[in-house]
Amino acid sequence: MDLTGKTVLVTGASSGIGKAIAIALAQKRAQVLVHYGKNKAGAEETLAVVAKVSGGSLHQADLMDPEQIAALFAGIKKTTRTIDVLVNNAGDSRAGEIGDDDVWDYQYRNIFLSAVQVSREFIALPAAGLRKIINITSIYGNLFGGEPDYLQYSAFKAALASLSTTLNKSSAPDVIVNAIAPGYTQTPAWAGAPKDVIEACARATAIGRFVRADEVAHAAVFIAENDALVGQVITLDGGTSLVGTA
Ligand SMILES: NC(=O)c1ccc[n+]([C@@H]2O[C@H](COP(=O)([O-])OP(=O)(O)OC[C@H]3O[C@@H](n4cnc5c(N)ncnc54)[C@H](OP(=O)(O)O)[C@@H]3O)[C@@H](O)[C@H]2O)c1
Repeated sequence: MDLTGKTVLVTGASSGIGKAIAIALAQKRAQVLVHYGKNKAGAEETLAVVAKVSGGSLHQADLMDPEQIAALFAGIKKTTRTIDVLVNNAGDSRAGEIGDDDVWDYQYRNIFLSAVQVSREFIALPAAGLRKIINITSIYGNLFGGEPDYLQYSAFKAALASLSTTLNKSSAPDVIVNAIAPGYTQTPAWAGAPKDVIEACARATAIGRFVRADEVAHAAVFIAENDALVGQVITLDGGTSLVGTA
């Protein structure tokens, strides 16, 4: 896919990986719909960079609220005929163990159901030749890569990885789905983490450092541009799945 003039929606583009992906797709001359939840200032910063190389617009919605997802797409449809590439990036992680019902509910809606509902709205948009979904999962969602202290997050990232493969059986060739499973990636999500945890995560790689958000964005551009890649979950973790998580 030549991204020039294509319309892309990046969820959670106000920060971290989503911001980097929005900017990388804009550098390929895509028009970027910059989605955010609470962080309007962050989304405005992303759009300012996007606007220097291409164009785009801001779109707010709490993706844990189905009505706000419907309103998000109703708003987009007012100005945009269709969307060519959807990046399901928004999400956050909460620690939880097997008995933590509130965390099961939170991570189900935050990580999995939100991406399902956004994908459903995306698929229902008018056809425009090949269209793509790129899901951001996690090494914690890879089989054998899960983290017991983040049981719910790991389980629903695994569910999202499964969807990234199986959905193709009904959606291709019109809509092709792939995923990126990042390892420890340097973003504002790590801002509150203790220094010893950060150092342990950096050591739990083969490259001795966190993955950078622009390295994840580079993989997103590759997936968007390569039309033969179908149903793959690309692990981009600096080697953490080889040496073991922190
Ligand atoms: N960083 C890592 O080490 C790492 C590793 C593996 C996977 N990931 C995944 O990569 C993705 C991005 O993470 P990040 O590290 O870039 O985190 P981040 O900097 O904290 O950004 C998270 C983004 O998700 C949005 N978001 C979260 N919940 C939302 C909701 N209910 N409604 C709307 N937007 C919501 C946030 O929007 P607002 O702030 O505007 O509300 C923000 O734009 C996540 O899916 C995460 O699980 C990250």
